Amino acid sequence: MIQLNNSIFRTIGEIADEQGVKAYVIGGFVRDYYLHRECKDIDVVVIGSGIAIAEILAEKVKSKVSIFKNFGTAMLRYKDMEIEFVGARKESYRKDSRKPVVEDGTLEDDQNRRDFTVNAMAFALNKENYGELLDPFKGMKDLDAGILRTPLDPDITFSDDPLRMIRAVRFATQLDFEIAPETFEAIKRNRERISIVSKERITTELDKIIMSKKPSKGFLLFDKCGLLELIFPELSALKGVEVIKGKAHKDNFFHTLKVLDNVAEKSDELWLRWAALLHDIAKPRTKAWEESIGWTFHGHEVVGAKMVKNIFRSMKLPMNEKMKYVQKLVLLHLRPIALSQEEVTDSAVRRLLFEAGDDIDDLMTLCEADITSGNNAKVRIYMRNFEVVRTKLKEIEEKDRIRNFQPPIDGGLIMKTYNLPPCSIVGEIKSAIKEAILDGKIENDYEQAYALMEKLAETMIPKELKS
Ligand code: CTP
Repeated sequence: MIQLNNSIFRTIGEIADEQGVKAYVIGGFVRDYYLHRECKDIDVVVIGSGIAIAEILAEKVKSKVSIFKNFGTAMLRYKDMEIEFVGARKESYRKDSRKPVVEDGTLEDDQNRRDFTVNAMAFALNKENYGELLDPFKGMKDLDAGILRTPLDPDITFSDDPLRMIRAVRFATQLDFEIAPETFEAIKRNRERISIVSKERITTELDKIIMSKKPSKGFLLFDKCGLLELIFPELSALKGVEVIKGKAHKDNFFHTLKVLDNVAEKSDELWLRWAALLHDIAKPRTKAWEESIGWTFHGHEVVGAKMVKNIFRSMKLPMNEKMKYVQKLVLLHLRPIALSQEEVTDSAVRRLLFEAGDDIDDLMTLCEADITSGNNAKVRIYMRNFEVVRTKLKEIEEKDRIRNFQPPIDGGLIMKTYNLPPCSIVGEIKSAIKEAILDGKIENDYEQAYALMEKLAETMIPKELKS
């Protein structure tokens, strides 16, 4: 018996008593209660009509209820919680679809059809046994041991709803649990069934894995059970090491996962983490052996940035500024390190600031995370050089305000001053001014830019065009 100190649960219990039905909180809330994780999504299962109880509760707490008749569910918001009501169900599935055939059932039928024992526990809400834990599949024992196990034969559970194979990996990563061996074997056997699950739902789970404390765990599990090549072939292609004349390149899959974990330690930004996952994605496509150098991956940052678009499209990730941000980081990910290997000139730093704009700090985080060498002396040198780059970035930014810099002279002003039609000369003058600022030949200031424009106009604009 536990202390469910939430008055809304008492109220639901009272309504259920009045209506002569049984009601239970089930699933994620119960799991998270024991794990001391906050849970704002509450699932209530009613042995009878969930909708009827939801409607009475909505009136009592003056909230609006949304009813989904086809699914037999109702949802209402109360304070910062979302409470979903459903009648206990017994489900069976057809081979070719995730859509179940549904009939009314008992609490145990309902618990049977859930994904994992730790997600199949329920708290009673009726007065007679308020707070009692109903746990027919020993979910508590698995929760204590940190194990994910299906309540039924795993082949049935996964074949009924193949998304659960991805959820197993997601929960294992998020909660740092292990997947029970027989459950894991069933994922291996049923992995091809993932093809009937929509990309959106898989991507939602991937986002949760990426947002975990140590995301590599999930991708290693995907690889181990054979799901990786089905749901993320580009990432799977990073695996492996080739050796020519005794020279090996690093395994880009393990390297990528290390970079992702490193970024995860520094930032909770989902898209920065995606950039980490994709930063070397074009290495397999650009790999070459050159006698004089060894293994090369020339242009992988450019090809990679292009691949980001296709990956976002196929995974149904947002095709908006988030994608552009990831593309930009992939494209620029070698720049800070390249900079730190040469003498760090003001003009190189200015150019980097100009191209990265507000994303410069994220780019530096990614680049630092990218240093995964096992050679400590090498890492120390890199890190020291990085400090130089960071200091220089700060100095230049304070002095020249290059971040989000717009050249002080635009094409309109050039056309107006010299009465020019839109033509290539306008672009050339504009870009010469921008280059002069980035190279530090003139300052980022209107007067100096105007003077340079006048000087350039003398030689660049042909006499016949001058009015
Ligand atoms: N469930 C299931 N199979 C699925 C999805 C959900 O059996 N494919 C069940 C589980 O019992 C789960 C509950 O429905 O606990 C609620 O699902 P959901 O809200 O998606 O997950 P939570 O377990 O609450 O976890 P999270 O909020 O982290 O997604």
